Amino acid sequence: MNIILLGPPGAGKGTQAKALAQRLKSLHISTGDLLRHNVSQHTSLGEAAKSYMEKGALVPDELVTDMLKERLALTDTKNGFILDGYPRTISQAKALNEILRKLKLSIDGVMYLDTSKPVIVQRLTGRRVCKSCGVNFHIKNMPPKNDGICDFCGAHLYQRNDDKEETIEKRLQVYQQEVSSLIDFYAQQKKLLRVTADDEAEVVLDRMISLLKHDSLKV
Ligand code: AP5
Repeated sequence: MNIILLGPPGAGKGTQAKALAQRLKSLHISTGDLLRHNVSQHTSLGEAAKSYMEKGALVPDELVTDMLKERLALTDTKNGFILDGYPRTISQAKALNEILRKLKLSIDGVMYLDTSKPVIVQRLTGRRVCKSCGVNFHIKNMPPKNDGICDFCGAHLYQRNDDKEETIEKRLQVYQQEVSSLIDFYAQQKKLLRVTADDEAEVVLDRMISLLKHDSLKV
């Protein structure tokens, strides 16, 4: 099954995509993670993307779309994937349709994680990420066993540059400009499933699974 997760920054797309990918035995593809990897490796893509990401702006479509096209073309996508962070604009949504058509793949469902602003700000300002394995924690909601240390690999946790309050505001503005047209785009294709996502992660995941089952997408 191939699923897109849509939602504002901090909606829990990364958290839910990882959990859902485990349940469905499919792949989690995050354009944010791919971009951050390129930035940390100082690739030409990373160097080009860095300043946009730090400001909370979108990286230009052609850079992100080329990166995603290469990722989707790898054979490990054949057992299904959960796409997190792409598309973010209508032109990306159209580009995705074209990429998938050429690969003879398609999207089964688009889940929109509906989240309120106070919850978003609380989640993003408290997020801490493992420097080594990339797992997300939250200082209150999902704290590590030892302060500042990853439970899984023992590496240090850090705060993302774009998780400062002023950058969060900019990311939310950017998101608001694009989201309604994306929602309409997938609603018209009868692929959109809305999920209330302010609650605890396990509650949201159960809601997603039951929506997918109910929508007879063969979970
Ligand atoms: P990206 O990494 O995709 O960031 P985002 O969309 O802003 O989303 P986040 O990763 O901030 O949040 P999330 O929804 O995944 O939440 P998470 O699960 O981590 O993109 C970063 C940047 O890259 C963009 O600004 C842009 O510059 C660029 N970019 C990426 N894709 C692009 C594209 N297609 N086009 C152009 N540019 C692109 O959860 C957040 C926190 O809350 C965590 O600490 C977590 O532990 C906690 N949490 C999650 N769920 C719950 C819950 N239910 N209850 C309690 N706590 C929770």
